[in-house]
Amino acid sequence: MSNSQGDHSKVKKEPPIQGTLISEGKAQVCFPGSEDNVFYNPVQEFNRDLSIAVLRQYSLDQMKKTDKSFVGETFLKPGENGLTVLEALSASGLRSIRYAKEVGGLKNIIANDLSSSAVESITSNSQMNDASHLITPNEGDASILMYQHRYKKKFHCVDIDPYGSPSPFVDAAVQCVTDGGLLMVTATDMAILCGNVPETCYAKYASVSIKTKACHEMALRIILQFLQTSAARYGRYIQPLLSVSVDFYVRIFVIVHTGKNQCKASASKLSMVYQCVGCHNISWQPLMKTEDRKCPKGAGGSPPKTLGKIFSRASGPPTDAKCEFCHSRLNFGGPLYSQPIHDLDFVQSLLTSLDNPELGELKTEKRIRGILSVISEELPNYPLYLSLDATASLLKLSVPSLVMFRSAILNAGYCVSLSHCYPLSIKTDAPMSVIWDLFQGFAKKQYPDKTWPRPLSDKPTPADYILSRPVTIQADFTTHPKGNPSSRMQKLVRFQENPEKNWGPKCRAKAK
Ligand SMILES: C[S@@+](CC[C@H](N)C(=O)[O-])C[C@H]1O[C@@H](n2cnc3c(N)ncnc32)[C@H](O)[C@@H]1O
Ligand SMILES: [Zn+2]
Repeated sequence: MSNSQGDHSKVKKEPPIQGTLISEGKAQVCFPGSEDNVFYNPVQEFNRDLSIAVLRQYSLDQMKKTDKSFVGETFLKPGENGLTVLEALSASGLRSIRYAKEVGGLKNIIANDLSSSAVESITSNSQMNDASHLITPNEGDASILMYQHRYKKKFHCVDIDPYGSPSPFVDAAVQCVTDGGLLMVTATDMAILCGNVPETCYAKYASVSIKTKACHEMALRIILQFLQTSAARYGRYIQPLLSVSVDFYVRIFVIVHTGKNQCKASASKLSMVYQCVGCHNISWQPLMKTEDRKCPKGAGGSPPKTLGKIFSRASGPPTDAKCEFCHSRLNFGGPLYSQPIHDLDFVQSLLTSLDNPELGELKTEKRIRGILSVISEELPNYPLYLSLDATASLLKLSVPSLVMFRSAILNAGYCVSLSHCYPLSIKTDAPMSVIWDLFQGFAKKQYPDKTWPRPLSDKPTPADYILSRPVTIQADFTTHPKGNPSSRMQKLVRFQENPEKNWGPKCRAKAK
């Protein structure tokens, strides 16, 4: 027996067959021969831990709806009325085994893979972990299997964790999950989603990515728009629970609901974007707009009641052909999902669940807690973010301290938060004109002997235009009580360094 995964995973127990033995959570899996035959990526332990936390919470929420007991041993006992789960691309079966052993309220998990060696591993690993009563190994194409379940025997939870892009599986996935079911999706094709190849991004996700410092949140919004548009084709719509960008991948958790009327809101949840190539300012062009339809006054002068939604075409364009701040041309991209990407009540219940020892421990719990805490502070209604360092570098200034710049935004009367996607991110409701005023205030502080605003040179750069604008707000950099985010003050593990040497998505398993 060999063990090439380092101390992280060394275990003493002998596997039933010769191979490499890995231990993660409550599961031990064996890779026959070498781990090259069946896919395993130890860096994705965080992905699996987070998925367990989400699936547990989802399962608890379902149990609460039916008033069942949900703590301790009872939680882990499989039940006839439990949830059905499909892990459509299961590789060694590790994730399914962990679901079986660490999540309560499940009735059955189909662990599927196209590769016969993977399915052999799933079968033997399920036996070795005493999980065969819950896990049904299945050899087949994920999409065909999901299409077979689109009318009957839908799954309560579907997990799509492919190599690279989930896009080929999404059409089937949004159909085979129950009304109110949970869909969990990983994507590791970050170069495509983050704006390096917009033409491929459109081919895969029907959205043109742009080059932006907020590319990781853009990646989440591209996938969410794709899930939503795919679901709407079948009279279904998504409710994002949690959308996480971490390491080299994104992981998205949504509830899929059925409701033709709600599908009418699809277009008003999407926006195209215009991005200035000089100062990177983004203008949003919604595809449609929606308003509440109100009946003017109820009987006896009671307050107006909301009677549903009115949908109408959005007006535009949202910007001139050249940037109003630096006079550069604009790039065009999208559509992006422009609604909140997390359900903050769900995030809060996840954080609370981490404190419940009865639900079981997760090795990456500290990191989960850190990331969820930053997410719980994110301003939900302001898509994307500014990068403090990139914006300062554009203006050829040193980077202001995060607390100081956040304080200036708060002192000017606006809201500010981080994004979990980037440590020096600024999410705010302050218009860009205010942000430029604050940067000019910072520049003045750095170079007090220069004339401010700067006189315009003969051949002005974007930075020259921005720093020559007359300011309307005098920056106040006095430390504000909310200048330091609470997750930062508590020193939570929020933005982890690279988890190991040569980390990344890992190569495909060798075909057998
Ligand atoms: C990234 S691995 C899955 C890792 C696994 N979910 C985990 O957490 O360890 C992707 C797996 O998808 C399988 N696969 C690729 N195309 C497939 C298809 N069309 N249908 C089913 N499985 C497929 C591969 O054989 C591989 O085992
Ligand atoms: Zn500009």
